[in-house]
Amino acid sequence: MKNYRIVLLKGDGIGPEIVKEAVKVLDQAAKVYGFSISYEEALLGGIAITQTGKPLPEETVTACKASDAVLLGAVGGYQWDQLPGSLRPEAGLLGIRAALGLYANLRPARIFAPLRSASPLRENIIGDAMDILIVRELTGGIYFGQRGRVEKNGASAAYDTELYTVPEIERIVRTAFRVAQKRRKMLCSVDKANVLESSRLWRETVIRVAKEFPDVELSHMYVDNAAMQLVRNPGQFDVIVTSNLFGDILSDEASMLSGSIGMLPSASLSDSTLGLYEPIHGSAPDLAGQGIANPLATILSAAMLLKYSLGQERASREVERAVDQALLKARTADIWEEGCERVSTAQMGNLVAGLIDGKTA
Ligand code: IPM
Ligand code: MG
Repeated sequence: MKNYRIVLLKGDGIGPEIVKEAVKVLDQAAKVYGFSISYEEALLGGIAITQTGKPLPEETVTACKASDAVLLGAVGGYQWDQLPGSLRPEAGLLGIRAALGLYANLRPARIFAPLRSASPLRENIIGDAMDILIVRELTGGIYFGQRGRVEKNGASAAYDTELYTVPEIERIVRTAFRVAQKRRKMLCSVDKANVLESSRLWRETVIRVAKEFPDVELSHMYVDNAAMQLVRNPGQFDVIVTSNLFGDILSDEASMLSGSIGMLPSASLSDSTLGLYEPIHGSAPDLAGQGIANPLATILSAAMLLKYSLGQERASREVERAVDQALLKARTADIWEEGCERVSTAQMGNLVAGLIDGKTA
């Protein structure tokens, strides 16, 4: 029987609770589809700072590199907010992205039919088909460029640098074209080419790479317009490809359109099949330990893990189907509505796992 090795980075806040439920679901999928998974835990974020003094201990990088995939809960919490930038939990997240070469961040934002009324957009605007995939560059740009403090005109000043090389742009753009080919074959590249030189290089490169993908319809949009179009007519988008910073901002906006940030997963992919999967929501320290957090974004991240790192596409579809079905029966507090059963984090995990029987996918 094929065995896969998964590293669990439970992290902080609600991280451990939601990862536990995703593991239940992965184990059930393994049982039904005939493979096995062994897990190893490693430290990242606040808990790593508390236990080792560093947000990303070397052993964590080693364990992740030796694994087939990494499942992450969430990092961060008030107790670490006062630390200097390089020692904050977030530095651990940026560090693991860089160390594993996870340059392609896939963030789907779609409407779950039973949750349609949760969208802050009017029903005639949100439609019933919103299904966007944001492909965000994750290991370059202003997040990793030179930064510093200087003096200018006698005043304290600071700077950060947006820098992209052509190979960095080419690889993320190719990833985006390939995923678009498997979807509705529309790709919108978002930049600020009317102002930024780095965006002009980005756009030139996108246009050149597009020749390799004649079956995909390509468009370009300035980031300010894209932010507006997302709330004006989200149904016009299929796949969006953009830089690290623009992708960070637009993916939060897109996630809100679905009305339920507790539902959305993400995948961070490298050139190999090794990937890191995490919910897009944060560690929600206020909710931790109460058993009320929504585990579905982490469960859907596990579905992405099954697909992209383990190649278990049927198991992945089955998990997604089980989540859709679970939503019709019960809800955690964040998405609860009159007429639905209100369940805890663990009950939701049990419900989804119980719906995985392999009969449909
Ligand atoms: C995200 C988060 C991170 C980012 C933070 C926590 C460093 O906002 O994954 O979108 O900015 O990339
Ligand atoms: Mg973000």
